[in-house]
Amino acid sequence: MASKSYLALALSVATATRFAGVNIAGLDFGCGTDGTCNVIQACPPLTQLEWDGLGQMPHFVENDSYMFRLPMTGVLNQTQFYNYNMLVNACSSTGAYCEIDIHNYARYDGEIIGQGGPSNEVFAELWYNIVDYWKYENRVIFGVMNEPHGVPAGSVQAAVTATRSTGANSQIILLPGNNYTSAETFISSGSAAALNMVRNPDGSITNLVMDVHKYLDYNNSWGDVDLYVSYLSQQIAYQAANFDVILGYIGWAAGSFATNYILSETPYYNGTGWNDTLTVSTALSPVTNMLFSSVA
Ligand SMILES: *[C@@H]1O[C@H](CO)[C@@H](O)[C@H](O)[C@H]1NC(C)=O
Ligand SMILES: *[C@@H]1O[C@H](CO)[C@@H](O)[C@H](O)[C@H]1NC(C)=O
Ligand SMILES: *[C@@H]1O[C@H](CO)[C@@H](O)[C@H](O)[C@H]1NC(C)=O
Ligand SMILES: *[C@@H]1O[C@H](CO)[C@@H](O)[C@H](O)[C@H]1NC(C)=O
Ligand SMILES: *[C@@H]1O[C@H](CO)[C@@H](O)[C@H](O)[C@H]1NC(C)=O
Ligand SMILES: *[C@@H]1O[C@H](CO)[C@@H](O)[C@H](O)[C@H]1NC(C)=O
Repeated sequence: MASKSYLALALSVATATRFAGVNIAGLDFGCGTDGTCNVIQACPPLTQLEWDGLGQMPHFVENDSYMFRLPMTGVLNQTQFYNYNMLVNACSSTGAYCEIDIHNYARYDGEIIGQGGPSNEVFAELWYNIVDYWKYENRVIFGVMNEPHGVPAGSVQAAVTATRSTGANSQIILLPGNNYTSAETFISSGSAAALNMVRNPDGSITNLVMDVHKYLDYNNSWGDVDLYVSYLSQQIAYQAANFDVILGYIGWAAGSFATNYILSETPYYNGTGWNDTLTVSTALSPVTNMLFSSVA
């Protein structure tokens, strides 16, 4: 199958499946899973035609009732922050939920956060500064880290504590597990037990949501293209049936991915309007799969 999706497992009881969306990728390009970066490859999804994330988002909101995950990595210098803030603002202005996603695999220059790499204190400071900037945006979601491997729950707890200490108490925080946030090994890898310990400063678990990722093929990479829509539809039906614990899904990926990238969910701009990929239009869009009674 040719699409990867992200699921969010809620710790508290929901009243309906709430979120469907897509990644607007590009500001994350260039960094490997070992945390080394080649920033030349960064491709802000801001200006190009079919890579125009700013244009894609209003289309996805209008035609697909989507929310967005906004991956970002590299050096958070003035240019990078300016670009990222433009993306977040464009997302917010659609009225959709916008997930701020630090896309570093819990790695920096080959070292693991809190385990020889940047300390948990440095990681907490990064999150404090990010959240402090967007803390008044009610529809921002904070994604602590994309696909860590080897991340201790201590680093996640540090980010949660830092986030709440800005006063941002109402927003959802997505807690990443071990082994690339694997859904398949969520229990066996120890992620579930470790993340169950994470708390808000007041001791509650309000708005702390577990984040799990999965490629549906056997080797967790690409796989068969033929079956992808039907596999995804089965997954989404399962999620809809379990809406009390599963909040939704975010597909990988649109934004700066070319429309011929194997996992592309980038819509095609034909000069006057946007056309969705088959994956989005037949499986992922809640407007067509009709499995959501409401989309927040
Ligand atoms: C998107 O929504 C607009 C407004 O409802 C509609 O005019 C347009 O045809 C839709 N586009 C697609 C691809 O469905
Ligand atoms: C900031 O970082 C980006 C991407 O990481 C890089 O392309 C750019 O040259 C940097 N700009 C400055 C002023 O350092
Ligand atoms: C990570 O997940 C893959 C499958 O998703 C599994 O094959 C592997 O054994 C897992 N590793 C750990 C350390 O859990
Ligand atoms: C995974 O399987 C696909 C075929 O389904 C193959 O093209 C790909 O190279 C495999 N990836 C790895 C890392 O083995
Ligand atoms: C371009 O895409 C829009 C939105 O799907 C559609 O309404 C329109 O017919 C398309 N135009 C052409 C020339 O394909
Ligand atoms: C866009 O979608 C419209 C309506 O389905 C179709 O007529 C048109 O051929 C599509 N254009 C492209 C370039 O895919």
